[in-house]
Amino acid sequence: MTTPHLAVGIDVGGSSIKCALIDLNTGTFASERFSTPTPAQGSTDSLLAALKTVASKVPGDHPVGLAFPSVIRDGILRTAANLNKAWIGKSLAVLASKHLGRPVIAINDADAAGLAELRYGAARAVQGTVLLLTLGTGIGSALFVDGRLVPNTEFGHLQVAGREAELRASGRARVDQNLSWDAWADQLNLVLKEMQGLLWPDLIVLCGGITEEPEKFLDKLHCDARLCVGTMRSEAGIIGAALATMVVSSNRA
Ligand code: BGC
Repeated sequence: MTTPHLAVGIDVGGSSIKCALIDLNTGTFASERFSTPTPAQGSTDSLLAALKTVASKVPGDHPVGLAFPSVIRDGILRTAANLNKAWIGKSLAVLASKHLGRPVIAINDADAAGLAELRYGAARAVQGTVLLLTLGTGIGSALFVDGRLVPNTEFGHLQVAGREAELRASGRARVDQNLSWDAWADQLNLVLKEMQGLLWPDLIVLCGGITEEPEKFLDKLHCDARLCVGTMRSEAGIIGAALATMVVSSNRA
């Protein structure tokens, strides 16, 4: 029997912060999953306090991977599309590490989900160009070429027929605009067509809360690329965040 290789994954989403201990040998949960509401447009301090609350529930002093809805370069947050803009320019990894008292690696949330699906899930061992889209509060993207991540792609902000992709087809867009599944799938088809024309991916993997109900929309989608739903669904971010502690070089600078 292999010894579990453990790390904590934390996924900061638009509505909740989810956290669990992950066995990186298998990509499975090694603890209960804990969550707390994300302080809406809250200050950096309130979000850090929420991170501490949720992380303190996981026993042990394992390294922490933090998936965050932001462009992150060298540990510094560069964008804050659906967050308090006060985050821009802050070193998330350093701040979180001080609050949690453990080493922290920070990674874009969609990149984290992509790492998980590539290592353990729907895109496991797939070569060529793989595009993963998370359909939650925003649209996140992760692009892999022969298994290598091109970080911080941000395709959710592409203009598609004059309107930002995430305003058309995120999970939140469906709810806020009260779209039927058919109407939402039409919007997502526009986004997929644009991605297809620009990237010609071999596989597109859809992730995020909305993919918990694939029977509602999957057969309404059309795309040249092979299209599937991630096997880890909305848990890919937590699992990928934990995996980032192993595969992403230190960004605590
Ligand atoms: C952000 C991305 C993030 C995505 C999903 C977008 O609005 O710009 O960084 O990955 O939402 O949370």
